[in-house]
Amino acid sequence: MSSRRGSTSVVLPSGQTLPSYTRSSEDDDGLPHATKKKMADHLRKYEALFTLTPQRMRIIVEAFKESLELGLAKHGQVVPMIPTYVFGWPSGKETGNYLAVDLGGTNLRVCLVTLQGDGKFEITQSKYRLSEEQKQEDGQKLFDFCAECLKAFIDSNIEAGVIGQDQVLPLGFTFSYPCSQDRIDHGVLIRWTKGFGAPNTEGHDVVAMFRQSLAKYSVPADVVALTCDTTGTLIASHYVNPKTRIACIFGTGCNAAYMERVGDIPKIAQLGIDPNAEMAINCEWGAFDSFEHENLPRTKYDITIDETSNKPGEQAFEKLISGRYLGEILRLIICELIDEGVLFLGQNTYKIEIPYSFDTAFLSLMESDPTDELLMIIGIFSHFFALETTLAERQFFRALAKLVARRAARLSACGIAAIVSKMGYLEEGCCVGADGSLYNKYPMFAERIHEGLQDIFGEKGKNIVTYHAEDGSGIGSAIVAAMTKARRDAGIYPNL
Ligand code: BGC
Repeated sequence: MSSRRGSTSVVLPSGQTLPSYTRSSEDDDGLPHATKKKMADHLRKYEALFTLTPQRMRIIVEAFKESLELGLAKHGQVVPMIPTYVFGWPSGKETGNYLAVDLGGTNLRVCLVTLQGDGKFEITQSKYRLSEEQKQEDGQKLFDFCAECLKAFIDSNIEAGVIGQDQVLPLGFTFSYPCSQDRIDHGVLIRWTKGFGAPNTEGHDVVAMFRQSLAKYSVPADVVALTCDTTGTLIASHYVNPKTRIACIFGTGCNAAYMERVGDIPKIAQLGIDPNAEMAINCEWGAFDSFEHENLPRTKYDITIDETSNKPGEQAFEKLISGRYLGEILRLIICELIDEGVLFLGQNTYKIEIPYSFDTAFLSLMESDPTDELLMIIGIFSHFFALETTLAERQFFRALAKLVARRAARLSACGIAAIVSKMGYLEEGCCVGADGSLYNKYPMFAERIHEGLQDIFGEKGKNIVTYHAEDGSGIGSAIVAAMTKARRDAGIYPNL
């Protein structure tokens, strides 16, 4: 057995604690292990599968652009390009108190946001973790839970004297799943994503459902706007950095939003909105290449993930990119090598054979391991999977993590490039507000996106810069609520 000693520990996003190791002795555990040479041979095979050449990326960008155009032209397309009824950019002068409820992929967050104008704000919030059961039980129950949490939050703020007794505050509801909208306070769920499956919700207006739950618990809140995290991020980022043109989320799911000329959204021409007005579009680009699978380089691991998911065929782009799936891709490769008798012979591998047991945070830790012996990787495999590894194997795992994550970042660059190219932002350049666990925590994710943009556009790719965005689901949602209230009060498209 390797001799080791625990010293410090690392806390994972899931709340699990990983002890880190300070020393190891190599290859003396008496178990049959894969040699360095053998691992290098395997790595070459995976390199060929996961590497995206600049030319391939440019082809993807062209197909992506076509999908974006199609989504703007007609209803019901693969990439739905949802008109959000968020008209134009915030002025920065928005003020007042707003509630925000954010039903995300992992947590429910309730916030009280005070917009102070001049791009300034204050926020207080509470977070509740969603259980796997909650994601699958009846939709109305999920909204009841949101209403109950909001009620508790408002009550504690009334007690603290922050919210007045009889005050009914306007509320922005961030619901980050594809919903088709007829107006800003309406949204019919097209499909659940990110592993959610709550019945009786797809095909229903989620604002009406949420209002029903608010009424049930007598919550003093008025739902003014429904937004998705990307639209909120677009608006919040522009509030503090007016050079922002696009917003992206790279987290449990992935998506983008940008501002479009109404005249260039043919599918809503009948609404008679001024063609020169601007409206944010929630692309829902995670759906790119769904069903037909004609444009993206899917490996057999991606196909397995898709086919065993609760939504086969759907969210094809997201399944290659987002944090929900990257760990699983790596795990499937490892399992294949276990089955082929290459890895962990003589060891009990049942733990790593459990689907989704390999958290994407592990890839992130593996890539950032600063030690020559890759002690962090020793820790991950022994602590969570009871597996002994050699240095050659650990180097291989780290290289694999890099391949999987780099492909995700380069595909993300393709999506950004498609919007940039469609909107003609390349020459002038623009900022892209980005948020989500992958973007914020995965080492080199942003750098790899930037490298990808240069591979696609050449030197000019440097004009497109991503940066860590403002909290779109809280602040952004509140600003959208403020903009909507002001617009409707002024009688501008009051029914939209
Ligand atoms: C959802 C989007 C969301 C994205 C990031 C996707 O699965 O469909 O609405 O913006 O995840 O959270």
